[in-house]
Amino acid sequence: MAANRKLLILAGDGIGPEVMGQVKQVINWMDGHSAVSFDVDEDLVGGCAYDKHGTPLADATMDKAMKADAVLLGAVGGPKWEKLPFASQPERGLLRLRKDMELFANLRPAIVFDALADASTLKRDLVAGLDILIIRELTGGVYFGEPRGITQLPNGERRGVNTQVYDTHEIVRIGRVAFELARKRDGRLCSVEKANVMESGVLWREEITKLHAAEYSDVKLSHMYADNCAMQLVRAPKQFDVIVTDNLFGDVLSDCAAMLTGSLGMLPSASLGAADATGRRKALYEPVHGSAPDIAGTNKANPLATILSYAMMLRYSFDLASEADLLEAAVRDVLDAGYRTADIMQDGKKLLTCTDMGAAVVEAMAKRGK
Ligand code: IPM
Ligand code: MG
Repeated sequence: MAANRKLLILAGDGIGPEVMGQVKQVINWMDGHSAVSFDVDEDLVGGCAYDKHGTPLADATMDKAMKADAVLLGAVGGPKWEKLPFASQPERGLLRLRKDMELFANLRPAIVFDALADASTLKRDLVAGLDILIIRELTGGVYFGEPRGITQLPNGERRGVNTQVYDTHEIVRIGRVAFELARKRDGRLCSVEKANVMESGVLWREEITKLHAAEYSDVKLSHMYADNCAMQLVRAPKQFDVIVTDNLFGDVLSDCAAMLTGSLGMLPSASLGAADATGRRKALYEPVHGSAPDIAGTNKANPLATILSYAMMLRYSFDLASEADLLEAAVRDVLDAGYRTADIMQDGKKLLTCTDMGAAVVEAMAKRGK
């Protein structure tokens, strides 16, 4: 099958290369067994890029990312690079990708697989069947706002400054993504800010409310303060369908939602830019988990979040819904069969290595007869 889709793989640091190895098994299988094939290129991001190029993201890599139809990223960071100056740290590579590709919409689903409902630290009935989607604004707010920095004060103290800032168009475009996705799901959107304390939150609420009235009144919209949302997520998470929020609140709340599912090792994410004239969006897919340096190189990592990120890529970047369905069903099959990596291990289940879990997913896809 002729490759017609350009995919850039940036495996990164720590367990990144191990989990990405399993996605490559999946890609190879799909290449051999269905109409889906990719023109795959690989490059460095994070600490490994720093070691080779003295920067966590080389310009040539950035260039490739801009030209790719989709980027699949593993994880960045580790203790080896923690003492580097801020601008050289591995995370800056990831943040540059998000910013330069203008990936303003970050989709973080938190889904509880039936087989794993007992892995949550919350009671089974609170989380069984949970399926929520957090949409985090990813290129604005306090992550990128100016002024920022650490300055010396005349009195000998130092001052650290970051700026929370949102312009109308940034709120409207993320709001639009959220309303559209809510429409395709249960039709409920909860918009989250701190309008009781922050002007940027007041503006956020006003703009989302206006957009709702103008274009999306069929969606049921509610508003919530971020602290209450954190509390509601652990109290009664199933009350939510789609949540839309800013960059920093989204960072915190999505970790909170992730833990509801029992394992960070299960959660994929997609980061999307605006659609161009042809409808194509720049896109980056990555697991929510980090580089887990403590288990890197031991073949213990859970590759499912990265495999599920690849499934999101099939769905959102390439409109390959049936291939995405097949892959997601294969993941469900291996969990139902009792296969577990260490992070989701339970009594009586079969402990698999990272590579064996990758192989099990490929085998489950094959069994489903494609
Ligand atoms: C995330 C991470 C990143 C963030 C870090 C690694 C910069 O926590 O993707 O949620 O804060 O956005
Ligand atoms: Mg985070």
